[in-house]
Amino acid sequence: MNIQFHETTKTFHLFNDHLSYILCVLENGHLGQLYCGKRIHDKEDFRYLIEKAPRPMTSYVYENDRTFSLEHIRQEYPVYGSTDYRHPAVEILQDDGSRISDFQYAAHTIFAGKPKLPGLPATYTEADGEAATLRIILKDPVTEIKLELLYTIFAYGGILARSARFINEGTKPVHLLNAMSFSLDLPDKDYVWMQLSGAWARERHIINRPLEQGILSIDSMRGNSSHEHNPFMVLKRPYTTETQGEALGFSFIYSGNYRIQAEVDTHDTTRITVGINPSGFDWKLEAGESFQTPEAVMVYSAEGLNAMSQTFHRLYRKRLARGYWRDRPRPILNNNWEATYFDFTEDRLVEIAAKAKECGVELFVLDDGWFGKRNNDLAGLGDWFANRDRLPNGIAGLSERIEALGMKFGLWFEPEMVNKDSDLYRAHPDWILQTPGRRTSHGRNQFVLDFSRNEVVDCIYGMMENILSQSKISYIKWDMNRSITECYSAALPADRQGEVFHRYILGVYDLYERLTSAFPQVLFESCASGGGRFDPGLLYYAPQGWASDDSDAVERLKIQYGTSMCYPISSIGSHVSVSPNHQVLRRTPLHTRANVAYFGTFGYELDLNKLPEEELQEVKEQISFMKEYREILQFGTFYRLKSPFEGNETVWMSVSEDKKTALVGWYRVLNNVNAPYTRVRLQGLDPDMVYTDIRSDACHYGDELMNLGLLTSDATSGEVSREEKDCGDFESKIYILKAKE
Ligand code: GLA
Repeated sequence: MNIQFHETTKTFHLFNDHLSYILCVLENGHLGQLYCGKRIHDKEDFRYLIEKAPRPMTSYVYENDRTFSLEHIRQEYPVYGSTDYRHPAVEILQDDGSRISDFQYAAHTIFAGKPKLPGLPATYTEADGEAATLRIILKDPVTEIKLELLYTIFAYGGILARSARFINEGTKPVHLLNAMSFSLDLPDKDYVWMQLSGAWARERHIINRPLEQGILSIDSMRGNSSHEHNPFMVLKRPYTTETQGEALGFSFIYSGNYRIQAEVDTHDTTRITVGINPSGFDWKLEAGESFQTPEAVMVYSAEGLNAMSQTFHRLYRKRLARGYWRDRPRPILNNNWEATYFDFTEDRLVEIAAKAKECGVELFVLDDGWFGKRNNDLAGLGDWFANRDRLPNGIAGLSERIEALGMKFGLWFEPEMVNKDSDLYRAHPDWILQTPGRRTSHGRNQFVLDFSRNEVVDCIYGMMENILSQSKISYIKWDMNRSITECYSAALPADRQGEVFHRYILGVYDLYERLTSAFPQVLFESCASGGGRFDPGLLYYAPQGWASDDSDAVERLKIQYGTSMCYPISSIGSHVSVSPNHQVLRRTPLHTRANVAYFGTFGYELDLNKLPEEELQEVKEQISFMKEYREILQFGTFYRLKSPFEGNETVWMSVSEDKKTALVGWYRVLNNVNAPYTRVRLQGLDPDMVYTDIRSDACHYGDELMNLGLLTSDATSGEVSREEKDCGDFESKIYILKAKE
């Protein structure tokens, strides 16, 4: 990895084994983008890539010159309103009502490592040589605003992380109306755009759309990153597959309103912008103040989508997630939500936990309903103290009983919310986000606390800290069950209301930071009605997230497959729940429910007391299987082999670092009769090792399994005995392959 500056051509070349990223200072002092793609040789001069030609109906920067127009030049951080009519990376409203800016190169520094972004989640380095950073300083001569663009290239993978910082060195306040984290102009439009979209209980499904002249974008204006669109997008070539072809993934390390956009112009160049959603955003920057944008990460792969995902997995698992649990296999848990909903007593919880313990579960999690007057979803949020009617010994007493069983105890919170029927709301009715004179909408009968205010965050921290320090708590599930409406803070003046959404998220990050620092061994799992805030921002604080409220195994194939495009398997909260399933009422075999959930954090979302003896036996076997293989399942190299979006079968696998063990998950939704023979080519094995399939004892070389494939035929011919239970709908298998010594 290296960052070269060529003085005579004012060109920067950031490169590692996979990626070259080249930019230069243009004749007007702005930054031009020259190349982003597979590693090429470094040299002094790439400026021939700045193509200019006089074209009709174009506006030019300099009088008596009919070539230099920003409209035709690929740029790094385009400004609003001056010869470039594409969407800009920055727009600043100034004192006199003007919006033009002119950021010109002033200086740069190149250094090892990567600086922290204060108050924001971001990727980081741990040792020398992991990354190098280029900081380019630009200045707008009129407003005297300094702009610092940060580019970090990591030593492995085609990773480039970017962010921007604005410092008002002038004398007058300005308003930042648009401040993107990442902007990149590519020379052609020959891409398919891929996004992860859906809805509550149907998160992160893969959607492909070809780029054409015009704009494609995904965004959120909900205050959270949203179930609807994950802050992630891939541009892939039409011929790109999982294993070959170019792919450029863009991921935004942020949990609030965002926008990711691709704009193809008249000349078929493509502008990518990633950042805080400009819609509703207006940040007042007083003289002397600064504003730091969140970080966006690009991963370039020349070897298809799998390689891109593996790079994201490694980066986000090792250098975005932090803390005690980062590298530790995750505890197998039993959560009581789908087992009891709001209907429980202390004894009933202990009964569920005791059975779970008997089966080998390590952590019991008490979900919603333990606090205040929370007997249903009408009351209680905001009152983070135990409901003594249900839990006479409080959380401390319950947690002791759970620990006495030999298990760890975890607890659910929804820190950002309040019900009107709560002591907190009665004491502080002005603490919610609400617009004066307007109706305040609710979601699930709850209102959103104004986390842009320190005193609100302090108060919630105090209550949580109290419970955590007085009880034996090893895990927290942090939920967020509604989006923000009528966003307005009673604590901010009129000209700062456009800051509330972002300040809210900074408040969320602040509370996470304080709790994770005070209780470093507590495992945090993020959640927002399932996957409404499953984003890299929260991964910095919570190394795992509840991927979806849909726990049905068949539905989960698409959700988990889509999620794996960007997020490591160790981050994907996945549980076995009852059959028929509570969301889709589907009946699936117990082994299939587990076979899907293994590729995630794994746990149970049911009352094991209600299972028949033979299923309990199966659960015990599942848990001991997971304990044996979770390290590989969660931290191994993950490959997608067959997509649930393309057919009846899904196949994926995880391979241990030493390549000596591989676990292949094979899933078939509907049974076929008299179907063709099937096989699937595996990946990531050692071609020279001989692997034993420990279910069948069959032995094959790695190269056989990767080239001619693993035989997976398993259809009934129409003549098999009706008793054959492994041949129905919703069938699945885990193949365990072990290298012979
Ligand atoms: C959300 C979560 C669920 C559960 C409920 C409790 O929907 O996603 O897992 O915690 O809230 O109210």
